[in-house]
Order: sequence, then structure tokens, then C-alpha cells
Amino acid sequence: MQKTVFLETFGCQMNVVDSERIVALLDQIGYARVDQPDLADLVLLNTCSVRDKAERRVYGHLGRFKPIKDRRPELIIGVGGCVAQQEGERMLEKIPYLDLVFGTHNIHRLPELVQQAEQQAGRGNATDFLDRETRLNLFPQRTVGDSVTRFVTVMQGCDNFCSYCIVPYVRGREISRPSGELLAEIRDLVAQGVREITLLGQNVNSYGLKEEGEISFAELLRRIDEVEGLERLRFATSHPKDMSDQLIDCFGTLHKLCHHIHLPVQCGSDRILEAMNRGYRRDDYLRKVERLKKACPDIRLTTDVIVGFPGESEEDFAATLDLVARVGYADAFTFLYSRRTGTAAAEFADELTAEVKQQRFDRLLELQQKNGAAIWNSDLGRELEVLVEGASKQGEGQLFGRTTWNRIVNFSGPPELIGKLVKVRITRVFRNSNLGELSAANP
Ligand code: SAH
Ligand code: SF4
Ligand code: F3S
Repeated sequence: MQKTVFLETFGCQMNVVDSERIVALLDQIGYARVDQPDLADLVLLNTCSVRDKAERRVYGHLGRFKPIKDRRPELIIGVGGCVAQQEGERMLEKIPYLDLVFGTHNIHRLPELVQQAEQQAGRGNATDFLDRETRLNLFPQRTVGDSVTRFVTVMQGCDNFCSYCIVPYVRGREISRPSGELLAEIRDLVAQGVREITLLGQNVNSYGLKEEGEISFAELLRRIDEVEGLERLRFATSHPKDMSDQLIDCFGTLHKLCHHIHLPVQCGSDRILEAMNRGYRRDDYLRKVERLKKACPDIRLTTDVIVGFPGESEEDFAATLDLVARVGYADAFTFLYSRRTGTAAAEFADELTAEVKQQRFDRLLELQQKNGAAIWNSDLGRELEVLVEGASKQGEGQLFGRTTWNRIVNFSGPPELIGKLVKVRITRVFRNSNLGELSAANP
């Protein structure tokens, strides 16, 4: 009989890619994916621990599965991802109905752990870090590309140790995949119909820097840009300190590279940037933004900002507001600082009250919403190029795609357009998506 798995994914795009891999591995041992835990033989959470709230959600969700397990003791429950990596054995101790934990370097061991649980041969824990060579060999060749857009991981891990951040502790050291292997994988995906690739890594700009004889990230982009049949190329995430002039130039010269960059700034005050161990100053960041705008005048930027870092004064925060206003971000993901045990900043004196933090957060949000809305509203009436990705959730006959700025556009059109670049006139602008109509100018 067909066995079934319910899998829920939290956190960043890394986890989305890891979940694709989990599904593929479980398929090999007879598990098909279902979308309700009540129907599943196996329930898995792929978790995120970047902020306290994300971590607490995991425990909340696990609680939901307990009554199901009480009714059906043969149900297998497992936790993977960054919380699993961080907690390991402790998680099994805390949650008696949990059967297995697997960390960020041990996804390949999941089938073995699940089979061990099926045979009731004890609870499994695979959360050790692996060495470079083993990890590089474990990168799967994912050859199925049935969608228009795909993520391709170019590097994993992070060596930056920003003082607030748990990622280096849960993802391990930075490794980059060989460029030859990446190009082969991308050509293969394009041959199967993929039209847009997003290159992924915690800090793609440092791609290859630590591997002997490897090409730079800018050169990697140039080579991928030449892959015939590929229409669009994106990447995430960029660390400002490693963004070279060559990389900036790519936005002016590579035809397929989309005119959008996510460039997390975190803060606009030099004092706080230093305490965050970000490795750049406010002026360095602003200069890079100017260069980007010069290389590609219609580029849109998005960012991440942390509010309420330990020691943030009103003056520091004003510098952040000023920077956000100057850059003019299309979108900003704003976060209240969250103390992560084990990071350097966890030891810093954090004297701001919750009220002050919240007020600053609200002020930043208000500023950003105003500025962001002005940028997106300027698209009204314009004819924009959209890569059609599939049927829209909006209803029958509706398609959706994205603009070069990664903005979703819904419009009516025939399914033959899926996978094609079309011109769409924007008729309405909502908070997170646009509505449009297929332009008469399309062939
Ligand atoms: N590697 C990416 C970021 C991954 S985490 C990068 O460097 O750009 C995504 C975002 O979460 C970060 O950019 C930061 O803004 C936020 N973040 C990370 N740790 C945090 C913490 N302890 N508290 C609040 N926000 C945090
Ligand atoms: Fe975290 Fe900094 Fe690494 Fe990004 S670059 S993952 S914020 S340590
Ligand atoms: Fe979260 Fe892990 Fe990504 S902590 S943000 S899922 S790397």
C-alpha cells in the first residue's frame, strides 16, 4: 500500500530546496506527499531557528500532531532543518512523541531514519556536521524540471558570523559547488523546460572565493547568462561587503539577469553595523547602491532591516530611517531583534524596552510602506514583460507570472503562454501583486 508523508516547510529558500530533496528521497522508499497530517503515515517539519518566534512555532506545530499520534501510535513524527540541527538530542528528550531528528547536513540519511522508525528500532538522531568533501559529494543532481522557475543552490553555509545570527551555527561552514557541475545542472534544467533560475546561497557574492581555482560569482553569472533557452536569472542573498564591481556591472551587461537585487542592509548606523559585525559602513553600502543604479537605472532593491539591536539609540535608528529613505527600497523585510543563544550578540546588554522597539518598528514600517507603494504604483498603466509561470489562484482562465522585479502579475490568457515571456499592461496595483491584461502587442 502507498505510504504517505505530510511535510511542512518553514524559513528561507534553502529550506524550500531541502524540502524538494526530502520529497524526492522519500519517494524512493514509497512515500507520496499528502497535504493533511491526519492522512499521513509520516509527518515532518523542516524548521527555521533564525528568530525566537520561528523556533516557537515549531513546538506549537508539533503539539498539533500529538492527538493524531495518540489515536494512531504508528504515526512517525520527525523534525529536520535548523531547529533540529541546533537542538539534536535535546529535542528528542523534550518531546517524547517525536521519533526522529535530522539536521541540515544529514538529509541523505532520512530514508534510513524513517525505515528505522517503521521497524520500531529506536528513535533516530542525525545532527552531526559533515566535512567539506562529503558535503560536496552529497549535492544531488536534481534532473526533474517540470516548472518554469527553479532554485539552484550554488553555495551552502555561512562564515560571516554576524553577531546576531544563528545561521552559521546551524548551517555550518561555507562551501561552493564546482561551477562546471552547476552549469551542467542548469543546462539540463533548461532542456527540460525551465526558463528562470534563481541561484541560492546564504551569501552568493562570496561564491568560489574559498575554492582554489574557482571562478568568481560574476563570472558564474556571465556563463549562465549564455545558456541558450534560459530567459531569466536571479540570485539571493547578497552580502554587501562581498559585492564586487564586476558583479554590479553584470546588471548593466547581462541580458537575462533580472533588474532586482535583495541587498540586506540590517541597519543604517555605523556604530551598530560594527556591533553586528557586518563588515561594511553605511557609506560603503550607499556607494554600492549608487553604482547599481548607474549600471542599471531601473533596478529595484529590496532589503532586510533589524530594529532594536542591543544598544541601538534614537540616533542610530534615525540613521536607519534616513538610509531607507535615501535608497528607496521597493520592499523591506523588517524584523525586531531576537536574541539567539550562542551568538555573540546574546551577550550584549539589551536595555531597550519592548515599547521602544515596537515604536521604532512601526515608524520604519510606515516609512517603507509609503515609499514602496509609490514605486509599485508607478507601474499602473505600464506595459511590462512577464514570464508566465502557470495557472493563477485567482480563477479559471487566469495565469500568473512575474516582472523582472519579481512582482506577481495575474491576468487572463491561454495556458499555451506558460513558460513564455509576454507583455502585460498593468491595470491594478495591490499590496503584493498586480492585475493586468495581455497586451495587444504580443505576437
Ligand atoms: N544570509 C542572509 C540572511 C539570512 S537570515 C543574509 O545575510 O542576507 C534573513 C534575515 O533575518 C537577515 O537578513 C536578518 O535581517 C534577519 N535576522 C537574522 N537573525 C536575526 C535575529 N537574531 N533577530 C532578528 N532578525 C534576524
Ligand atoms: Fe546570518 Fe550574516 Fe551569514 Fe547572513 S551573512 S546568514 S545574516 S551570519
Ligand atoms: Fe531559517 Fe535556517 Fe534559513 S535558520 S532562515 S531556515 S538557514
